[in-house]
Amino acid sequence: TIVILDYGSQYTQLIVRRVREIGYYAELLPWDASKEELNNLNPKAIILSGGPYSVYSDKAPTIPEHIFKLNVPILGICYGLQAIVHYFGGIVEKSRKREFGHSILKISRNDPIFQNLPDSFNVWMSHSDRVEKLPENFVEIATSENSPFAVIKNIEGNIYGVQFHPEVSHTEYGKEILKNFIANVAGMEQNWKMENFVSKKIEEIKNLVKNDKVLLGLSGGVDSSVVALLLYKAIGKNLIPVFVNTGLLRKNEETEVIYNFKKIGIDIVNVDAKEQFLTALKGIEDPEEKRKKIGHLFIDVFYNTAMDLLKKHGNIKYLAQGTLYPDIIESKVSERKTAVKIKTHHNVGGLPEKLPFKIIEPLRYLFKDEVRKIGEILGLPEEILNRHPFPGPGLAVRIIGEVTPESVKILQEADHIFMEELKRNNLYDKVWQAFAVLLPIKTVGVMGDYRTYENVVALRSVNSEDGMTADWSKLPYEFLNHVAKRIVNEVEGVNRVVYDITTKPPATIEWE
Ligand code: XMP
Repeated sequence: TIVILDYGSQYTQLIVRRVREIGYYAELLPWDASKEELNNLNPKAIILSGGPYSVYSDKAPTIPEHIFKLNVPILGICYGLQAIVHYFGGIVEKSRKREFGHSILKISRNDPIFQNLPDSFNVWMSHSDRVEKLPENFVEIATSENSPFAVIKNIEGNIYGVQFHPEVSHTEYGKEILKNFIANVAGMEQNWKMENFVSKKIEEIKNLVKNDKVLLGLSGGVDSSVVALLLYKAIGKNLIPVFVNTGLLRKNEETEVIYNFKKIGIDIVNVDAKEQFLTALKGIEDPEEKRKKIGHLFIDVFYNTAMDLLKKHGNIKYLAQGTLYPDIIESKVSERKTAVKIKTHHNVGGLPEKLPFKIIEPLRYLFKDEVRKIGEILGLPEEILNRHPFPGPGLAVRIIGEVTPESVKILQEADHIFMEELKRNNLYDKVWQAFAVLLPIKTVGVMGDYRTYENVVALRSVNSEDGMTADWSKLPYEFLNHVAKRIVNEVEGVNRVVYDITTKPPATIEWE
């Protein structure tokens, strides 16, 4: 394993992803992880991430001494480099000129870490402190315009530091540098391939579960679908996937999910809870209240279903969940610092701890793109593989104000037209997430010779990497024109369509 120690950079997860992309297993730990936590992972190399601090400030995180005692190669990135310099007695100071964005790296000495690279190339910098004096026994091996010590190493050749960010895509040869460090300096063999992960995981699940049964909350999204397939390959009919229809799903969603899994050979326990959800939401307008109501009710419904199934089958021992690595990292991070809550998240993954089952999370250490890759390997139908994300509370957070059977119907129809046209025009896969929102206001229109007074539908389509930030999609005018026309003509109760052109931040992707 390659351990990435997190010093708080916005790029830390990216380092883990890059290392895995080039074929080596990596995991993230906080910078002050204990000796035991580190030893458990048996690290063969350590990478120190960047971070927002100055090494000379009071609260600056340091490098714990036991890291050096592991006697494995270390690579410091940005703050990581500065922390190394500071630790060994060099000098880091505030730079007169900050360095953000592109910079040209000039290699001054041949080195295993630069194998097969040109003498100079573009790198991505993001720092305001810089190294002014190297510690004893360290040498500079590359420079940039504003960083005389852009790449450094110790004389023994097992500690390296780079001032730029090799993990970001703007750095040319970033992956090569990481790869050179891992292969040439740490001498590691590639050990991370999705195909191997899949066969290993299937074996692991087989051995663990044996003849018991496993319950799974299936939402129809990529994560829970991949878990379903992985489990199905491992334990076949001993998998019991439960799909809860909240009545807040897209048009035809239920039928499609059941059909898609039937095709693979997986039968789903379908729970119709439409009435319950609609009743619970009656009269509620506040977004947070809606989210909480839905979250709690979902847990109740699932709990009752699970208990019934347990009575019927007797030997259900496990509950599988599609938790991903970013969720794990996120909850570890939020244990450490208090963040302001924007929205109460609900998803099928957050199932009750009071359930008498052991939890299995086969995707616990994976990133979303890795999960997609596994889905591909397992032959998950394209319709599921390339699905846009869909929020746990479903259409309820896309109907502003009170949710009623009528409003659900109107939104489903409008949203369906938008989705259908995106797919027909080959735009669905080009945008990250798209949907329609029903607004609780009426406006005046004219159809034929008549005055109309009906609802407004907003269309939202965004491009994003991970949903944390997003830009609105620049969909062609002709296309928007066509969608708006169809919605107004075909959906009763709507006489106006608008397009949301706000980025996140300051807006969020969903409207509630
Ligand atoms: P926001 O609206 O916070 O959304 O910008 C970011 C991404 O998260 C999705 N989302 C949710 N997903 N449960 C989920 O599983 C939720 O409660 C939830 N709320 C928002 C949203 O669709 C977008 O992809």
